[in-house]
Amino acid sequence: MENRVLWEVLWQVEGSLGTLQVVEGPRNIGEPPLLPISLGRRQRSIRPGLSPYRALLDSLQLGPDALTVHLINEVTKVVLVLELQGLQKNMTRIRIDELEPRRPRYRVPDVLVADPPTSRLSVSGRDDNSVELTVAEGPYKIILTARPFRLDLLEDRSLLLSVNARGLLDFEHQRAEKDEPGAWEETFKTHSDSKPYGEGLGEPWAGTQGLLVKQKLWSPSFAFLPGPTSVGLDFSLPGMEHVYGIPEHADNLRLKVTEGGEPYRLYNLDVFQYELYNPMALYGSVPVLLAHSPHRDLGIFWLNAAETWVDISSNTAGKVTLRQMGTPQTDVRWMSESGIIDVFLLLGPSVSDVFRQYASLTGTQALPPLFSLGYHQSRWNYRDEADVLEVDQGFDDHNLPCDVIWLDIEHADGKRYFTWDPSRFPQPLTMLEHLASKRRKLVAIVDPHIKVDSGYRVHEELQSRGLYVKTRDGSDYEGWCWPGAAGYPDFTNPTMRAWWANMFSFDNYEGSAPNLYVWNDMNEPSVFNGPEVTMLKDAQHYGGWEHRDVHNIYGFYHMATADGLVLRSGGLERPFVLSRAFFAGSQRFGAVWTGDNTAEWDHLKISIPMCLSLGLVGLSFCGADVGGFFKNPEPELLVRWYQMGAYQPFFRAHAHLDTGRREPWLLPAQYHDIIRDALGQRYSLLPFWYTLFYQAHREGIPVMRPLWVHYPQDVTTFSIDDQFLLGDALLVHPVSDSGAHGVQVYLPGQGEVWYDIQSYQKHYGPQTLYLPVTLSSIPVFQRGGTIIPRWMRVRRSSDCMKDDPITLFVALSPQGTAQGELFLDDGHTFNYETRHEFLLRRFSFSGNSLVSSSADPKGHFETPIWIERVVIIGAGKPASVHDPETSVLILRKPGVNVASDWSIHLR
Ligand code: GLC
Repeated sequence: MENRVLWEVLWQVEGSLGTLQVVEGPRNIGEPPLLPISLGRRQRSIRPGLSPYRALLDSLQLGPDALTVHLINEVTKVVLVLELQGLQKNMTRIRIDELEPRRPRYRVPDVLVADPPTSRLSVSGRDDNSVELTVAEGPYKIILTARPFRLDLLEDRSLLLSVNARGLLDFEHQRAEKDEPGAWEETFKTHSDSKPYGEGLGEPWAGTQGLLVKQKLWSPSFAFLPGPTSVGLDFSLPGMEHVYGIPEHADNLRLKVTEGGEPYRLYNLDVFQYELYNPMALYGSVPVLLAHSPHRDLGIFWLNAAETWVDISSNTAGKVTLRQMGTPQTDVRWMSESGIIDVFLLLGPSVSDVFRQYASLTGTQALPPLFSLGYHQSRWNYRDEADVLEVDQGFDDHNLPCDVIWLDIEHADGKRYFTWDPSRFPQPLTMLEHLASKRRKLVAIVDPHIKVDSGYRVHEELQSRGLYVKTRDGSDYEGWCWPGAAGYPDFTNPTMRAWWANMFSFDNYEGSAPNLYVWNDMNEPSVFNGPEVTMLKDAQHYGGWEHRDVHNIYGFYHMATADGLVLRSGGLERPFVLSRAFFAGSQRFGAVWTGDNTAEWDHLKISIPMCLSLGLVGLSFCGADVGGFFKNPEPELLVRWYQMGAYQPFFRAHAHLDTGRREPWLLPAQYHDIIRDALGQRYSLLPFWYTLFYQAHREGIPVMRPLWVHYPQDVTTFSIDDQFLLGDALLVHPVSDSGAHGVQVYLPGQGEVWYDIQSYQKHYGPQTLYLPVTLSSIPVFQRGGTIIPRWMRVRRSSDCMKDDPITLFVALSPQGTAQGELFLDDGHTFNYETRHEFLLRRFSFSGNSLVSSSADPKGHFETPIWIERVVIIGAGKPASVHDPETSVLILRKPGVNVASDWSIHLR
């Protein structure tokens, strides 16, 4: 209880000054705890200080699953109810709502996979101003301080995290009257937001302007977090200096301090030509932040689907000497425009624990069909069926692998999705059959804006069934998008989703076939004539919710498309859906990409931190448009982008309508072999990618990982943006500079060895290695101690390779050992799950023996695949530890089936 005593002292000393200041200097004496409404009450204008909230300890009730206690705002006298739960797996959930709301406030549905199992709380200490709680299964305790309200989570005697330590809890209650002229409606240009439930006071805050100039289209007075139903809360993280996550932003991996600048904004938007190194909102939002220190990892999951802002401050920012810094601490403040406070504290202790904790709440990455890990060829647009078939043939003629060809919006009849342009795509089934004969797939776009057209069945049904989003007056909401006037199906409505899923049946979606998969774009939703190119916040959704409540979750419901693809196969086949918008939990439904990037070197570079940030919060299946969407890449950039894409999870070339054609063979001939080699590296590593995705699916760990995930104590790794790990085995440092002759690669790990996968040269960690490069180099290193399975013959598509023999690349640790896994199944059905038809093999090398055993005896799968070769890297003894050379031992034709248990002994 040491800490509690300290705070009470602080409270007594500083309370008399009207402030409790934990991190920053005291606020002005006499300043009221909350600014009055007439001054423009703003979440962000509230500065750290004395919280007006007090927990009414008399109201405390301890049930089997939760503790509840009332919080009173001493100024407004409005009472809130706090529900506190200890959750299994070392998590805590905090929910705060009004005790007596005038109308219910939005609670985000569908994101959690289940009600998280609780861990019983008991009171283990109590005095006049605080209660100490013990969590049955947790090593941590929670101290609830009544005045000012605050929660502290402690493990042993150290403080892990405090809630409301800076007094920034602000929960704006719904009001009875329109008590402020002009406060209840805002207009800008042609848009008006009626805010019938009491939003909308105040002035834009300093710093917001810059953001708004960049996000261009909307009035400053709309884009701040407005008044009376917004919620905000602060979290202090002692000992933490490095925070990550809260995608999607085109920014560095490690989050920056936002104090005095613009906060990170989470509001799904279709942003035209987005700028880099910027906290502005992009297409998707995952309100999950990870905090890392060499000793501890924590996560904060803020489950709110309204427009959200995150402010980060640090007590070490800008300070240079250790003395000045003191104990590092990061403070994170979340603010949302509506809804309740529902927050999960993921208490680690390690980052893999945080991954598992978050996965237990929102699910893991869907296991992709094998083909979707191959190469995808897209552009806006392939003109017609002949064009598609020529592109398909081009891959064969140039001996390049490709799994999927994509069709953008022009393939549909007047952008009426689920249809085909009759003159350009008169025989889609014949085209699909042709691709199927090549063992390739097609992806067609189906956007969630539906052309308002009385002859169009999709529109007519949505309209007649009342399944469109409505305006505040109850008529169908109409906006402009690709087809012109369009309705927006209400994806938050389960009836609409069931209807939508059914649209993908082969009967309803005429011209579709089992090798057609789906791309859901523009689902932020994008509304060309709407505020900030999206929907008006007072549009009405299922259940009477406003668009402001559900905005960030709208795109998450591409769930219905994934469901539709499963349904059309009678529940057998795994779906593939690409979505541009996303939210927490979207990983369960497929892949995402980073939207409309540009053919510039900086955009190539930023694809690394953007995908890493997504992976950290569960969305492992991420990629960036290879080549850049806007503008025409010079050949060198396109080549480098293929090399980058080959090592990122979702590997698709895509380009804007106005760009020149850029199928790989259209480049000058000197580049063909280089691109073929990049594609070849991708395809030969498919067994490894597939296994990584299975691990992500099973355990919630990302496929593409920042280095610090595996080297948590190595501060050098904490802000690396130009290289990454795949699983724990490969370190990739793609070349992302024009005219590069070399790269500086950081090889981490005391006592670790890394082998260049091309030359087998051995390098010791930790070191920064200068590696000379040519245009054909992709610097990739295999960590000593790992075993990677590969297919060595690159064929037309992954489906042509799936029964090919495997070569194992065994990279020895300094101790002469190595381990690895291989997952195999049929590559496309749910049988791995429903009938346990899979293999999970574990290979381990030690004492000169390589042993293959089952890593999951539940699985059984018959396969012709055999091990054709074992390449043992680092088998010989180097002359000295500094000798970069290494020897390789190749065992040819061990002739063992991959499904059987075997061992090979070297003599
Ligand atoms: C959006 C997408 C882009 C697509 C275009 C036309 O801009 O982000 O990928 O090509 O719409 O559908």
